[in-house]
Amino acid sequence: MCGIVGYIGSKEKKSIILSGLKELEYRGYDSSGIATMSGEKIDCFKAVGKLSNLEEKTKNFTSDGFGVAIGHTRWATHGKPTEINAHPHLGEYSFVTHNGIIENYQEIKDELEKDGVNFLSQTDTEVIVHLFEKFNEELKDPFKAFEKTISKLVGSYAILIISKAAGDTIFFAKNAVPMIIGQDDNGEVFFSSSDAPLIGYVKDVVYLDDKMYGYAKKGVVEIYKNHKTIKPQKHALPTDRSYAQKEGFRFFMEKEIYEQSTVATETMMGRVKNGTIKFDEISPEIFDGIDEIVLCACGTSYHAALTASYLFERVAKIRTKVEIASEFRYKEPFLNKNSLFIVVSQSGETADTLEALKIAKDAGLKTLAICNVDNSSMVRLAGNVILTRAGIEKGVASTKAFTTQVMTLWMVVLYLANLRKILSNDELKNETKALLNLPKVLEVDPKLHEKIRRISKHYLHGHGFFFIGRDVFYPLALEGALKLKEISYLHAEGYASGEMKHGPIALVDEGLFTIALLPKNTLYEKTKSNVEEIAARDGFVLAISPLEFELSDDFIKTSEQEHFMSEFFEMMVVLQLFALEISIRLGNDVDMPRNLAKSVTVE
Ligand code: F6R
Repeated sequence: MCGIVGYIGSKEKKSIILSGLKELEYRGYDSSGIATMSGEKIDCFKAVGKLSNLEEKTKNFTSDGFGVAIGHTRWATHGKPTEINAHPHLGEYSFVTHNGIIENYQEIKDELEKDGVNFLSQTDTEVIVHLFEKFNEELKDPFKAFEKTISKLVGSYAILIISKAAGDTIFFAKNAVPMIIGQDDNGEVFFSSSDAPLIGYVKDVVYLDDKMYGYAKKGVVEIYKNHKTIKPQKHALPTDRSYAQKEGFRFFMEKEIYEQSTVATETMMGRVKNGTIKFDEISPEIFDGIDEIVLCACGTSYHAALTASYLFERVAKIRTKVEIASEFRYKEPFLNKNSLFIVVSQSGETADTLEALKIAKDAGLKTLAICNVDNSSMVRLAGNVILTRAGIEKGVASTKAFTTQVMTLWMVVLYLANLRKILSNDELKNETKALLNLPKVLEVDPKLHEKIRRISKHYLHGHGFFFIGRDVFYPLALEGALKLKEISYLHAEGYASGEMKHGPIALVDEGLFTIALLPKNTLYEKTKSNVEEIAARDGFVLAISPLEFELSDDFIKTSEQEHFMSEFFEMMVVLQLFALEISIRLGNDVDMPRNLAKSVTVE
């Protein structure tokens, strides 16, 4: 989830691009870069880390006079966050910036390399600029070359190209990630990934639709789709920057819940293909001789790991253990040399998980980090890494990171099951079909959100919450309870439904809320009996299920899904929205709950 800006005009280009990037920093910033062109003069600067590093690097540079400029903040998905991998990427005489993932970059790269093109970076993006220049040499027409380039790309992209071949022009294209264009009264043109950088420069903007592309010069913006010119509708820009950064949502957490559908696509891009699973970043050998999986994490990431443990055992038929990192560190663990030790972490910096990883590594175990932040301590330390590609997560309460962790782990399970020939082709196809359906499952239905907002008022009093479920819905219950307690400060616990009768049910009375996860595909009757026991003791029950449950006091109907993991993710969204709406009603700061930090780098 990177950020992109572009500008055509006579103002000081560096300042416009840098101030635009500043507004986009919330989208991710492991590195950033800028390229400006005035006439034949091209300048490019890149820096690793925060945007202030790029500001420092460009402090003595000015770019007055008419020209074009593009800039980028990066959140690494292919290649480390280094200067070489930062955008803009250079061909011979053109620069490109890109958000998204080019799924078929390896095929394109192989062909270009055969033609003698040298690649500098490890990114998927660099192929775009070389392809553009190759076609420009063939066609001697930069726009036709751009059109042809776009037609070869598979994946998601917001692309800006500047080139000496058309010094007054920016070429642009958009598919599956946002791109916005605005023009001021003097015909100067501005591009951005979101509204915030454009506020103050233009009054209205065009939100490009997927597969739109075109070119812009001063006073001219030509937009095409399927080779035909489009005259898209303009929309007034919001005027409040912080509102614009949250893209119209009240809190970053809310925005991140809504983003889950998009990031799910990114997580799978290039990995779920033709009915099977592929990871460019790991080699099958890491599973050689492995007879056990040990998953280790904290908090929400622990819940993702616990969810995955059911899948590893059931689908990949391998013994699996899950460890809370803070416990693992001091329990003098008895380690099996044939275990693959997997740490799961959004930040890659959590002290307990990092220490656990060191213990496993020192003991000679093979290690794998499932992480959202490239170049983080865990990514640097682990023997193998798979990035979850959730983009930066601003809300302290983790939402989209959890989604991508569970998805990535599920993909690893399928990868292993396929490697060991445990699943038939049809079974694997069925699983990948369920994965590919997730972006749809994760889309937030506004009617559902409104219903949750309305019923949330029933839950502001009482003496606590039980979240209950079975199988993978047990870790989901734990996660639902954690989300609620983190941001509402209400007392909530997650339990395995079958455990209620072994003690917790003693707490049930009319002041205790039970949030019951009743999926159709997993142990429905068993969980239902547990909920009936609670209803019989006058507990207040919110049932979340595709099947009507007559004993519930509140009911949220989910869809009839074919796969239990689709039910899992649909219910997860319900639980996230439930916690959010209760917390908003209580007047809490959802994004920065008391006593919590986004990254826990202390013991
Ligand atoms: C809860 C939450 C935390 C983290 C935990 C581990 O919403 O975000 O429980 O999951 O602190 O953090 P990471 O995943 O960065 O290792």
